[in-house]
Amino acid sequence: MLENRHILLIVSGGIAAVKVPDLIRRLRERGAMVRCILTKAGEQFVTPMSLAALSGEKVFQDLFSLTDENDMGHINLSREADIILVAPATANIMAKMAYGIADDLATTALLAADKTVMIAPSMNVMMWNHAATQSNLKTLQDRGIEVVGPGAGDLACGEIGDGRMAEVAGLVSALSTFFQTRKESGPLSGCSALVTSGPTHEPIDPVRYIANRSSGKQGHAIAAALARLGAKVTLVTGPTQEPNPSGVTVVAVETAQQMLGACIATKQTDVAVCAAAVSDWRVAQASDAKLKKVSGDPPPALRLKENPDILATLSQAKTNRPRLVVGFAAETENVIKNGTAKRAKKGCDWIVANDVSAGFGADTNTVHVITGQGSDSWPTLSKKAVAELLALQIARHIKQTL
Ligand code: CTP
Repeated sequence: MLENRHILLIVSGGIAAVKVPDLIRRLRERGAMVRCILTKAGEQFVTPMSLAALSGEKVFQDLFSLTDENDMGHINLSREADIILVAPATANIMAKMAYGIADDLATTALLAADKTVMIAPSMNVMMWNHAATQSNLKTLQDRGIEVVGPGAGDLACGEIGDGRMAEVAGLVSALSTFFQTRKESGPLSGCSALVTSGPTHEPIDPVRYIANRSSGKQGHAIAAALARLGAKVTLVTGPTQEPNPSGVTVVAVETAQQMLGACIATKQTDVAVCAAAVSDWRVAQASDAKLKKVSGDPPPALRLKENPDILATLSQAKTNRPRLVVGFAAETENVIKNGTAKRAKKGCDWIVANDVSAGFGADTNTVHVITGQGSDSWPTLSKKAVAELLALQIARHIKQTL
């Protein structure tokens, strides 16, 4: 499973860094290629020379090193890796990751990462149990970062409890499992998927726009879930606060027209899931200059023009239609009836209809999945759980229709 895998190993400053040379040895024995970033604090526990000798690669340390940037810029370090492992991951680096702080090469590479990140926490038990660390851990897990360990036992500081970095064998096995289950043998491996998410912003003038309250939570969760099943996912998203899911190609757009353009540009895809709350209308003639109020004048009238329907366009494509097109129906009444009518009108295969009378932005969703065979009402679930179940249903369908 590790043969020819590129692992970017970030070594931060904990006593468990002394286990890293053995970890590198075990990974290389299995055919993996390991490249290390060593933080300043990490250097107190393990030398760059030993990491370079064992990995057979240059060890990267300095964000502002001209020679390092020349050899391999901090962006490329993560781009060229199949996975990034932070081992040991101290409370400090976890906090920086949670807050997006990028003040050295390791944290900059992590912030620029487009790959799955796995962390092996290692710290004193009190530090591990501290509310700040636990809250940072939750933030990282919510973002899809994989966490291995820590285990319980005697700690280097003399105390006993949780905080010991996972053993080398455990880390090797977590990496192997990652490559085995997430990439090659996922039920959607070899498939491509396009997901739209978030709202669109339709400009009125350079400073104002028409938008809606879509959070992008559901669409982003679906993109992440499809990627976890092995699909090659492109997520076309309007402006949201949601973090980019790991292992997904993200195309950020603002308007419905841009969203359609980005979807068409993906050319051929096996599955399309349109979860975006695309604005139905745009301002026919957005002003190039800020609209000014003139006292006494009536407010400007906004003439609206209908936006292209992305779901209908993909569903009714004459060539390269995705094998499965899934739309959403945001309804405030007669959810199943309206969802069924929307499925027929747009020509998609499935509609996931949900009641949005309580508004957008919640963490849960109550959906009815409408297919050609009828409708299936799911209980209220977290948006993540809806995404996981939907991705599994998509995978089953794709397998059956192969
Ligand atoms: N959709 C789209 N492009 C649009 C409008 C909607 O791709 N211009 C997609 C949405 O992503 C969703 C589905 O169509 O998958 C239904 O969106 P919804 O807002 O529920 O319905 P509308 O088509 O906008 O119809 P209405 O607002 O009248 O209910």
